[in-house]
Amino acid sequence: MTNKKRIVQKILRVLCLMTLLLNHSISFAQVYGQNGMVVSSNVLASQVGVDILKKGGNAIDATVATAFALAVTHPSAGNIGGGGFLVFMNAAGEATTIDFREKAPLAATADMFLDSAGKLIEDSNHRGLKAVGVPGTVAGLYLAHQKYGKLPWQALVQPSVDLAKKGFVMSWGLYKDALEINEEEKTPDFMYSFFRNTKGEITKPGEIWKQPSLAKTLKLIRDRGQDGFYKGKTADEIENYMKMNGGIMTKKDLEKYTAVERKPVHGTYKEYEIFSMPPPSSGGVALVEMMNIIELVNLDSVKFNSTAYVHLMAEVMRRAFADRAAYIGDPDFNPEMPLDELTSKVFAKKRFDNIDMTKASVSDAALYGHPYDGNNTTHFSVVDKDGNAVSLTYTLEYAYGSQMGSNNLGFIFNNEMGDFNPVPGLTTNSGQIGSPANLIAPEKRMLSSMTPTIVAKNGKPYLIIGSPGGRTIINTVFQTVVNVLGYNMQIDKAIEVMKIHHQWLPDVLLYERHLMSPDTRTALEAMGHHLREVNSLGQLMGITYDADLKVYIGASDSSSPDGGAAGY
Ligand code: GLY
Repeated sequence: MTNKKRIVQKILRVLCLMTLLLNHSISFAQVYGQNGMVVSSNVLASQVGVDILKKGGNAIDATVATAFALAVTHPSAGNIGGGGFLVFMNAAGEATTIDFREKAPLAATADMFLDSAGKLIEDSNHRGLKAVGVPGTVAGLYLAHQKYGKLPWQALVQPSVDLAKKGFVMSWGLYKDALEINEEEKTPDFMYSFFRNTKGEITKPGEIWKQPSLAKTLKLIRDRGQDGFYKGKTADEIENYMKMNGGIMTKKDLEKYTAVERKPVHGTYKEYEIFSMPPPSSGGVALVEMMNIIELVNLDSVKFNSTAYVHLMAEVMRRAFADRAAYIGDPDFNPEMPLDELTSKVFAKKRFDNIDMTKASVSDAALYGHPYDGNNTTHFSVVDKDGNAVSLTYTLEYAYGSQMGSNNLGFIFNNEMGDFNPVPGLTTNSGQIGSPANLIAPEKRMLSSMTPTIVAKNGKPYLIIGSPGGRTIINTVFQTVVNVLGYNMQIDKAIEVMKIHHQWLPDVLLYERHLMSPDTRTALEAMGHHLREVNSLGQLMGITYDADLKVYIGASDSSSPDGGAAGY
């Protein structure tokens, strides 16, 4: 072969590789990084976070930048129109949390979604602007930055302004969402135009998708901080849009909104310490209750994915979810919640003692309160070179929330009011809960299942984990934590292996199809479990620390089409 031919072949090979890189998403099961890591549902946003770490930012700075970037690149759940929770552990092992859950507007009432006969108007708590809670994301990120950030605020918001203004390459994942939304019969005007280019066509994979209105809103936040969202032009336009379209949120609601720093829920499992989110999320309390119960079991005798394993996990979940329904709501409205009791080892023993390993218990709404005395959210995990760690989950409730928003602002409002108990006093076997702790009241935060969690070993972050998935979040996080701490699985394996979900009511055990053997299913049914297959559960984003190699290992769930870890 002549030299000329060789050069031509080499050029062709490089061109081929470049074409592959441009046209295909590349994902690695695990990413290693000694200096820092971000794992999120969108690899562009993960990279924004890591760039901030490289510029000398800490884990909180990277978190703020990643959260705003997800609001641009992962708009089904990344948001400025929703809310969430953040768990932070500093390099000295001290943990805290920031609660930026949405609040009910001042004009909200306990019966606002009922008809004159006291019945829930179907789906009214999830559809239309009355379903929108006062957003908390901007206030939460601002508070986290004010207290614990290092780099200037402007530098953390700027990458998202750029992503929205200059655009980014439309992914297949987003394109699929766009097609589905536009097939829906009642696509709101805002969502109808959301993914379209100036010619009115849905932006195709590989084309650049720009969001100029969102860029302007983000600029105001960049320049004015929290006030850029809760006051001034943005607040005026939110109030105007609500008024014109049947919403109840006003400028006063926005002005009054504050994020809150809260003490984390703390538990232990063997030599590990668990730090997770307290109410108004039920996630941390339920996680600690379930870990306490599992600590009473010798997992060497319960093989992963065996019938005994699924039965045990389902029974543990059933009990924790009954307690969740009975007791948990916004702490500012429920000062008497028995949180210490629910997270104690003594309480776990009581719950454990009546698990029958030969048959399923029965979930019954009539026994509610003491039965066992006897699409969409997103999570990301961050760690920096000093060992500061953040676990953040935030949401719009459904994928693309209320699907409504002002074209002048360019962002989507949540439909989080649907997380309140809609009918006072009505708990049904089909899963509707009516307990008082989570009834609607003005300025109350709705109960959540988000479970951003940090597990520490020797006072340092060892596992940073969380997931989207509504009530399934608590259980997919629980199983992943057990997989890592109890079954010694590597993070990627722990995320991918079979997950189940039981939430007390309805009395149904969900499992990931293809991942549970037919024999196990038959055996579980014979024990009295009511099984239902689902395609997948959870979309976990996790980081673990390998103390021998002194390296962080990040993994994103393969069910996330655009997700990915970025480390350095
Ligand atoms: N909207 C889902 C949750 O907060 O659990």
